Amino acid sequence: MQLFTPIKIGAVELKNRIVMPSLTNHFAKDGFVMEQAVEYYSVRARGGAAMICVEDGIVEFPRGNNVNEPVAVDDDKYIPMLSRLAAAIKKNGAVPAIQLSHAGRRAGRPVNAKGEMETTRGFMPVAPSMIGHPRPGFIVPRELEISEIEELVEKFGQGARRCVEAGFEVIGLHCAHMYLCGEFLSPWANIRTDKYGGSLENRIRFVLEILARMQKEMNGIPLMMRMNGVEPPGGNTLDDIREIARRVESAGVKAISVSAGFGPVIKFRNIVSTQAPIGTPEGVLMPYAENIKAGVSIPVMVGNAIRDPQYMEQAIREGRCDIITLGRPHIADPEWVNKVKAGREEEVRPCICCCQGCQGSVMKGKPMTCILNPLVGKEADPELRITKTKDPKKVLVIGAGPAGLETALTAAARGHNVTVWEKDGQIGGTLRLAEIPPRKDVLRKVIRYFENRVKNLHLKIEYNREATEENVDAFRPDVVVVAVGGKSFVPPIKGIDSSIVHMAHDVLRNSGINAKRAVVVGGGQVGIELSEYLAERDAQITIVEMLDAVGGDMYLVT
Ligand SMILES: Cc1cc2nc3c(=O)[nH]c(=O)nc-3n(C[C@H](O)[C@H](O)[C@H](O)COP(=O)(O)O)c2cc1C
Ligand code: SF4
Repeated sequence: MQLFTPIKIGAVELKNRIVMPSLTNHFAKDGFVMEQAVEYYSVRARGGAAMICVEDGIVEFPRGNNVNEPVAVDDDKYIPMLSRLAAAIKKNGAVPAIQLSHAGRRAGRPVNAKGEMETTRGFMPVAPSMIGHPRPGFIVPRELEISEIEELVEKFGQGARRCVEAGFEVIGLHCAHMYLCGEFLSPWANIRTDKYGGSLENRIRFVLEILARMQKEMNGIPLMMRMNGVEPPGGNTLDDIREIARRVESAGVKAISVSAGFGPVIKFRNIVSTQAPIGTPEGVLMPYAENIKAGVSIPVMVGNAIRDPQYMEQAIREGRCDIITLGRPHIADPEWVNKVKAGREEEVRPCICCCQGCQGSVMKGKPMTCILNPLVGKEADPELRITKTKDPKKVLVIGAGPAGLETALTAAARGHNVTVWEKDGQIGGTLRLAEIPPRKDVLRKVIRYFENRVKNLHLKIEYNREATEENVDAFRPDVVVVAVGGKSFVPPIKGIDSSIVHMAHDVLRNSGINAKRAVVVGGGQVGIELSEYLAERDAQITIVEMLDAVGGDMYLVT
């Protein structure tokens, strides 16, 4: 496959066309890379990607923070741990890269419960202009003075010097997602009237100055740049975007990573978000990569909800892009590249674009997790490594939903004698219901993934077997794991026992329950998805929610 052929970024050779892009993980502490992150990245470097681009390195900590606990590059004290990280990525087989960034107005994230600005630790965020990030709750930033712009250019230069000293072999500049550099580039966030605002010539000046300053410190190490391939109305047009790409290539950039995202997805429904959500069609950013590719001769990378290796292969063969960035799939399955390259695609733990564990946690100020990969962030924990036990136990797992299966498969891989009892005739549990609402069919891939693991490990599953005290006792297990799933909360509402009242699960389970008019009680994710499901069956829906907004348990993607 061409996907697995080498390509060069400047003088640096990538062994294949797959790169893990920046994914901020919240494993850092006070700007320092922690051991937890070194192991997290090492595991992914071993997984076969040609280059691992470490999360954003913040050039002005904490005023330019993208999250509460980012990696910082604005002081020499950070160099030793950055070196340890770069060396670990290299030792494990990937090119170590890092992306420099300043969050600009996006650092003005909503305050915490005590009314404090957590992300910037109290500092007022800055931006090209006094326009707040459009997502509710972000505060209006202060406009940068010219002298401060010059200081920031220097900070990017010094950040690059530190990353070179630390051993990173490719260094990126983050100009996407409406962080500071992207804000300067876009008329959507930049309404300055001095030499840094107005015409494209002026809006790009900040970025060109940074690129020039960074390169002075980089001894020929290649520089790449991430930029939005598409902007909302009032932002850069596709022609502007191609022109920006052309100009940064002339300024020395050796590869462009095409991305998207602004925050106000609700206002601009058709704009692609940074982390395209579940149900997004494959290759949603590909036309924008092609637009940029038409203006430059350097490699163009693109990702975002690209999951199918055949699609990747075809896009590269047809010259639509040169490299694929595979972000969340690397969180869900660090071995993605090795497995696909070895023809073991069915063993890949599929990322379903839910953002529940990854982006959802990070944006709440918590360390990254993944709903399908329990080891994320725990790679360094020796107790969680799969090693063969010297003391095999007879393990009974009750329930073959995702939790029961993950437990059973892990115990079996460690050499325990595992049996699973499932009261249905098939595995999957509530996943079988979760995949029914519109655009959720990707969950079928998760069921297939578990089916394959069950087959490969010859896991013993007894179907149509319900556990009782007597039969569990008679089975004489050493360990019993109860993984029978949760129970729906039934609110104490008068009339709830009526024959026309159904629980959400029952409606999904029984396609015979039809309604012309339905009241859905509860506007959380389950209620909304059920409403969509019923609406597709021509029902008229009214959602009743006790809070003042629906979707309170859902994550708003940017
Ligand atoms: C948890 C999380 C953190 C991210 N952090 C960054 C970041 O620091 N810098 C960046 O350029 N993109 C960041 N992204 C965007 C990803 O690099 C990637 O573009 C996005 O997830 C879409 O690609 P995918 O579908 O392959 O994941 C982040 C995404 C996620 C899910
Ligand atoms: S939490 Fe969801 S989106 Fe994030 S990596 Fe895991 S499966 Fe993918």
